[in-house]
Amino acid sequence: MQMIRMVKTVQFGELIGVGNTADVFDIGNHKVAKLFHLGYPESAMLTELHNSQLMNHLDIPIAKSYEAFVYEGRNGIIYDKIEGQSLLEVLFETYDIEKYTKVLANIHKRIVSAHLPDAIDCKAILEKNIKNAEDLNIECQSKLLEILADLPDGDNLCHGDFHFGNLLVGKQGTYIIDFMNVCKGNKNYDIARTLCLIEMTPVPENTPNQQEIVKMKKQSADIYLREMGMSRDFLTDWLTVTVAARLSELSHDQSIEKNNILEYLSLQGL
Ligand SMILES: Nc1ncnc2c1ncn2[C@@H]1O[C@H](COP(=O)(O)OP(=O)(O)O)[C@@H](O)[C@H]1O
Ligand SMILES: [Mg+2]
Repeated sequence: MQMIRMVKTVQFGELIGVGNTADVFDIGNHKVAKLFHLGYPESAMLTELHNSQLMNHLDIPIAKSYEAFVYEGRNGIIYDKIEGQSLLEVLFETYDIEKYTKVLANIHKRIVSAHLPDAIDCKAILEKNIKNAEDLNIECQSKLLEILADLPDGDNLCHGDFHFGNLLVGKQGTYIIDFMNVCKGNKNYDIARTLCLIEMTPVPENTPNQQEIVKMKKQSADIYLREMGMSRDFLTDWLTVTVAARLSELSHDQSIEKNNILEYLSLQGL
């Protein structure tokens, strides 16, 4: 069992990032504090810390983690600060989809060729999330669990949330962040998950040039698959269980994405 070092006080500086689960503050000395939202469970914070520390031992560029802390009831983790922008921001500044999707794919190839036998199994996570997906009836859930059971096991490193927003482009290179969903498994799980995050996540209605961004996402998904040497057909079963499991992560106000997924599943006869 790993020892968690807790720091007692953290001096928060500028807010430099906002995610779905946390706010990230500069705390000086080339470090940041990822401060999870109030109510975000300690066990989930410890999972992220544990995952990031498992990854510290691999030859993969990540934002290194240090201690955990608690501030006004909120859990947090100290990380090295990566000076720079996310790959998503770079993509929207340059519109160079080809170049930056290749960057994403090249780092993903490094991730999925690594092995992390001590991490939790992706099939266990998928099983739990499919069972928790309230939008799926029992019959549909059992069919999905059958498909899942037939998929191959593995111990490749899977990031579990690998998308443009979770890569930070620093002066020395591009670094991976956000380790909450790290697991081990067949690499096609992580490829399917990234494809789903690029292609199936909707662009909000009020976004200027919404249609252009939808087109960019499709182009990026095609380039990504080409670079990974993968096809949608080959990934079908992984994609099916991965998108179904994603339903359990979505809230009521993410109904567009839920409907996209349900439509995809119905095209698969589910
Ligand atoms: N180590 C870091 N150095 C610099 N900025 C960071 C770092 N970690 C996170 N950020 C910023 O904070 C944002 C949210 O962090 P992230 O870990 O992705 O949170 P969430 O789990 O809520 O998605 C990132 O998109 C990035 O802008
Ligand atoms: Mg993130």
